[in-house]
Amino acid sequence: MTNNALVTGASRGIGRAIARRLAADGAVVAVHHGGNEVAAKETVALIEEAGGRAFPVCARFGEAGAVDRLADAVSEVFDGLDVLVNNAGIGSHSTIGQVTEDELDRILAVNVKTPMLLVQRLMPLLNDGGRVVTVGSMASRIAVQSQIAYTVSKAAVEALAPTLANELGRRGITVNTVAPGPIRTDLTEPVLAIPEAAAGLTAMTALGRIGEPEDVADVVGFLAGPGGRWITGRTLDVSGGTYLGPIA
Ligand SMILES: NC(=O)c1ccc[n+]([C@@H]2O[C@H](COP(=O)([O-])OP(=O)(O)OC[C@H]3O[C@@H](n4cnc5c(N)ncnc54)[C@H](OP(=O)(O)O)[C@@H]3O)[C@@H](O)[C@H]2O)c1
Repeated sequence: MTNNALVTGASRGIGRAIARRLAADGAVVAVHHGGNEVAAKETVALIEEAGGRAFPVCARFGEAGAVDRLADAVSEVFDGLDVLVNNAGIGSHSTIGQVTEDELDRILAVNVKTPMLLVQRLMPLLNDGGRVVTVGSMASRIAVQSQIAYTVSKAAVEALAPTLANELGRRGITVNTVAPGPIRTDLTEPVLAIPEAAAGLTAMTALGRIGEPEDVADVVGFLAGPGGRWITGRTLDVSGGTYLGPIA
């Protein structure tokens, strides 16, 4: 049976890897992007080259009507949705002293409000036995002074899963969060380009390297597949053991 999947922020980075993995597992994937149409088309092309099926959809989160535009576009193509991956997200690099109200509004709109409203809007389209996976962050379990707004947004979005799991569980729908550690993408490129920063993050990671988008995509693929049927309402740390404690 063919599954239908929507992956937000699938034009680049972790979302692209998730879209490719779900397509490889047989899903038809709606590749959402926030305006980078070229990158979204690249994701679609990569999926098609591998024998899969996908199409791009655009909606700029934070803009009025974005959730409706995305839900309408997806509903036009799919008569049911099996997998919803809330992946699109933005970072912030401000301390409590620096963060502005505008920055906080923006990060909460993109990282928290939009995924929540998207689930609400797509609930009628979600098939029984479906999956909702949200990409949180390891940031919600550690203190990084320069990303307090990001940390708060990821802690908030992580809180969706338990309640939604109870709401949707009787329909066999599972709802989980994956919490990556540092992953090599455009988002982290400015930090990882600093050799000392990359070395520092590697040194505090049990598995001894920076993560790749596929490290996260494989876990999402597992949760979205039949093997993930008995996990719901949880956050799975997907960080290679980043910052577990001192490494001797
Ligand atoms: N990279 C990491 O180390 C890391 C660690 C933990 C958690 N995460 C989380 O993983 C998710 C993906 O991160 P990433 O590193 O893959 O990021 P990325 O490479 O910067 O890609 C971000 C994706 O989100 C989309 N997006 C950004 N702002 C948007 C907006 N306002 N409206 C709609 N779409 C928007 C982008 O679309 P366009 O291409 O159209 O701009 C792109 O597809 C995020 O939720 C992030 O917080 C990342």
